[in-house]
Amino acid sequence: MCGIVGVVGNTNATDILIQGLEKLEYRGYDSAGIFVLGGAESHLVKAVGRIAELSAKTAGVEGATGIGHTRWATHGKPTEDNAHPHRSETGRFVLVHNGVIENYLEIKEEYLAGHHFKGQTDTEIAVHLIGKFAEEDGLSVLEAFKKALHIIRGSYAFALIDSENPDVIYVAKNKSPLLIGLGDGYNMVCSDAMAMIRETNQYMEIHDQELVIVKADSVQVQDYDGNRRERASYTAELDLSDIGKGTYPYYMLKEIDEQPTVMRKLIQAYTDEAGQVVVDPAIIKAVQDADRIYILAAGTSYHAGFASKKMLEELTDTPVELGISSEWGYGMPLLSQKPLFIFISQSGETADSRQVLVKANEMGIPSLTVTNVPGSTLSREANHTMLLHAGPEIAVASTKAYTAQIAALAFLAKAVGEANGNAKAQAFDLVHELSIVAQSIESTLSEKELIDSKVRDLLETTRNAFYIGRGQDYYVAMEASLKLKEISYIQCEGFAAGELKHGTIALIEDGTPVLALLSDSVLANHTRGNIQEVAARGAKVLTIAEENVAKDTDDIVLTTVHPYLSPISMVVPTQLIAYFATLHRGLDVDKPRNLAKSVTVE
Ligand code: G6P
Repeated sequence: MCGIVGVVGNTNATDILIQGLEKLEYRGYDSAGIFVLGGAESHLVKAVGRIAELSAKTAGVEGATGIGHTRWATHGKPTEDNAHPHRSETGRFVLVHNGVIENYLEIKEEYLAGHHFKGQTDTEIAVHLIGKFAEEDGLSVLEAFKKALHIIRGSYAFALIDSENPDVIYVAKNKSPLLIGLGDGYNMVCSDAMAMIRETNQYMEIHDQELVIVKADSVQVQDYDGNRRERASYTAELDLSDIGKGTYPYYMLKEIDEQPTVMRKLIQAYTDEAGQVVVDPAIIKAVQDADRIYILAAGTSYHAGFASKKMLEELTDTPVELGISSEWGYGMPLLSQKPLFIFISQSGETADSRQVLVKANEMGIPSLTVTNVPGSTLSREANHTMLLHAGPEIAVASTKAYTAQIAALAFLAKAVGEANGNAKAQAFDLVHELSIVAQSIESTLSEKELIDSKVRDLLETTRNAFYIGRGQDYYVAMEASLKLKEISYIQCEGFAAGELKHGTIALIEDGTPVLALLSDSVLANHTRGNIQEVAARGAKVLTIAEENVAKDTDDIVLTTVHPYLSPISMVVPTQLIAYFATLHRGLDVDKPRNLAKSVTVE
């Protein structure tokens, strides 16, 4: 989703901005732009499409201060006029913005009569408002910005430049992520530390409703009434090599391949030297104190919640309910007496989930965030955090974060169960079982050619497809179908195998691909019955089975793993199926249309 970069006091500003925007490409965008101030000259450059197209237009653009933006269209189409940065009526003030301004039409009507707008964005209205207060009403820049911030409602991260003063970038945020990067003799602004990791690993957080005056040699944080706030810096534990593709053609393939390593990292992170599972006692207590766990998440993370439900319930003796964040933010159901909310989020920034967390905090409900990004909004604002240790996930289609989420929750379930004396938890040798999972994934990864060959015939031209499974395999089917549809654009549904005959089977015709998942020894035979039903109606069936239930005729056979962890190993061939199907259809695996990696609008 939209990305912000900014730099003040470095004569290489254009390069820093372009390289920063390139690092944010993975988040999804459809246009981009930069504004650079060099002495008396200023340059505003925008382009629809990729950063490469923007970069090609920046020859001769030089200066020491600038801001840049990748835009994922919300208000108005992806055109150059709608691309950021936007300018005030006279052009003096220049603004980039992430988020959504809720009252932008009211602001336009109430304050900006006679102003001329180039595009349809809410951002353009914000910068006109600041410009009006400074230029028409005579306020200082800071006062004009503050006055506008008191009026603007909604989510935003702003970076503002006054083109008459190249020494300052003004920033403010509410709900949308924004950080200050501390350079050597210059400073930066970014919506994601990854954007500036080439320049610095020192960052400073900004909290909601704070305004920051960023100069080359100082950073001053204050609230909207001008009261100063102290803020320490922190070191971002990101490595440049983590965010490169290496020799891989696509990030997605690299991230699929990293999964066995991630499993081993999680073992390291959540065990002590004696190999005992270690989870923060305060988190264990939070689960013990709860009479029900509510898992809130979106997309792939929501599916990881389902895949962990049975394990969490059986090991912690606590019922688990799932909620789609975007639904719960506005309609909280009747809750139990002592709820615990667990937020699962790769990025820790998903606005829909944050909306629920804000409500939960208001209601005094304890919360735990399971995330890949330390210091992310959902991590900061929840009572507790468990980290995924998966390393940056760049491809839009989430792979290693999903498997890490289930594994992290397995450590939680095991730790709570052990503390409670739950017999199943005591018997569950998680470290050993997770090592088997890592090996199982490795052997699936060595079968890429086989998987590729199976996929070519089945999915190269089809318009639709189905994944089916029962029990845990149903949850994997949901995730497998999301993976396939988001990058290959094949319309795909994940279905409970037994439910198919109650309506959806009407869609099966000659040649319809049906991919069946079989891991559960009790349920596999029932799913095989459903396979017969669809095959009899012309479906082309591909089966993915664990060894314990496999038959000679199955297409892809996986090493058997512990049933609690089968969603981790079963999903891997489906990730590869999505990857190869997308390649065969000639599409960009890492940057699917319309999608964003981190969805920071509700
Ligand atoms: C977006 C991404 C999905 C992701 C979902 C939740 O829709 O495209 O891949 O699963 O957000 O993101 P989160 O960071 O909260 O896990």
